[in-house]
Amino acid sequence: MRLGCLILAAGEGKRMKSALPKPLHKICGRPMIEHVLKVITALNPEITGIVIGVGREQLAEALKEQEVTLVVQEQQRGTGHAVLAAKDLFADFEGDLLVTCADIPLVRADTLQALLKEHRLRQAAATVLTAIYDNPAGYGRIVRDAQGFVQAIVEDKDASHEILAIREINAGIYCFRSPTLYEALQHLQPNNVQGEYYLTDVIAYLRQRGQFVAAVIAEDSTEVLGINDRVQLAQAEAIAGQRIREALMRAGVTMLDPATTYIEADVEIGPDTILMPGTILQGATKIGSQCVVGPHVHIANAVIGEGCQIRQGSIISESKIGNEVTIGPYAYVRPQCHIQDKARIGAHTEIVRARVGAGTKISHFCYVGDSEIGAGCNIGAGVVTCNYDGFNKHQTIIEDGAFVGSDAILVAPVIIGRGAYVAAGSVITKNVAPDSLAIERTEQKELVGWTQRYRLKAQAQKREAEHPQAKAYEE
Ligand code: UD1
Ligand code: CA
Repeated sequence: MRLGCLILAAGEGKRMKSALPKPLHKICGRPMIEHVLKVITALNPEITGIVIGVGREQLAEALKEQEVTLVVQEQQRGTGHAVLAAKDLFADFEGDLLVTCADIPLVRADTLQALLKEHRLRQAAATVLTAIYDNPAGYGRIVRDAQGFVQAIVEDKDASHEILAIREINAGIYCFRSPTLYEALQHLQPNNVQGEYYLTDVIAYLRQRGQFVAAVIAEDSTEVLGINDRVQLAQAEAIAGQRIREALMRAGVTMLDPATTYIEADVEIGPDTILMPGTILQGATKIGSQCVVGPHVHIANAVIGEGCQIRQGSIISESKIGNEVTIGPYAYVRPQCHIQDKARIGAHTEIVRARVGAGTKISHFCYVGDSEIGAGCNIGAGVVTCNYDGFNKHQTIIEDGAFVGSDAILVAPVIIGRGAYVAAGSVITKNVAPDSLAIERTEQKELVGWTQRYRLKAQAQKREAEHPQAKAYEE
């Protein structure tokens, strides 16, 4: 049997109150429309169409890499009207058409498979995915006949008291025999409170023509949560987040406090890694096995090897970290860093656009930018690379085994040669040859007995200030 899919994404999303088109709002770091597409792709349809309208430029841009056909619905005149906009795409299509919406992002592929299976088994003209909600407000209600077959869908806004009491809702996901659907859509009328062409009216139309309509009740009703406003967006975020965390825990990741651990949809984590409370992992982040991360660590789009310790309060973005690296507490690893095996980036160090060789230590309070640091180096506390002259960024190169003393200032461009030493507190403006010592300080002076003289003088001044008359008398 042939399968086509159509995703409705043209609506205004009024209730979101947003400049961003609703399908591009993210859930666990991934736009809603991509969640839907990912699930649709698992069904392997021969045609996938997306109906766009409001915010179509932004949507087209966001979807440009996807293998889908975009169809424009010029005016938003309802869900039935939106499906009609894709008429040409399915004109010669004789198969089943799965219709879903960009604002139902949590549905699973298994559930769609079950819907399709039922549709084919029953040889239905249409099959509706439904769910039972304790609070069905806002959804279309499923009206069944005396035999229990679906007879009609009535929108919340058009429903009588009796119908409003029905707890079975229309999920907004359907299978149709494509030619039957397009024939029925010709007959829709906007005779409702919203003056729209409702896709849902197709169901009653088909029943009136003696066609069979089947239904599948979603086992997990949270899957078909529709996102119309920010409250539902937050609910979806919570459900999706919990799914992600549970899948990772089942795959061997320890979370001390799952409720405060935020992990986005594309993150990968190896087994026996421990996540401490307050950890946030975003984007295309990958963490190897046997790491300890957190508490309160934020990692975005970074790849972290095995056996690393990412300690309290550290932030890492768009960087690559090798194996057995220690970072933090309170380190800030900015984009384009490559920290190699067994290196150590310590407390309150900030590092950007830098390679740090294996085993190198940059332990405390440093700023390292635009740098190439070799293996086995020691960078003392408070070392700063002056990479910016107000106009351009310049490179600092520190070769293997070099030792840079505390509080040294390295004014780039500059090279510290292999095995060289830089004395603490030096301001280095010239290259240092391998194995040399560079020291740039004024010589230390010592004024013997100075402190005692100073104290006596200070005491005398204090007496004078407290008893000015004593001075007058002395005089
Ligand atoms: C719709 C259903 C309702 C169901 C609910 C499930 C209809 C009439 N109602 O209501 O029965 O319970 O979904 O979540 O179908 N869209 C267009 N063009 C339009 C109008 C809408 O493309 O002219 C798209 C929207 O972008 C959205 C989807 O269709 O992705 C659904 O529209 P929405 O306005 O959210 O419908 P609901 O009121 O949620
Ligand atoms: Ca909706």
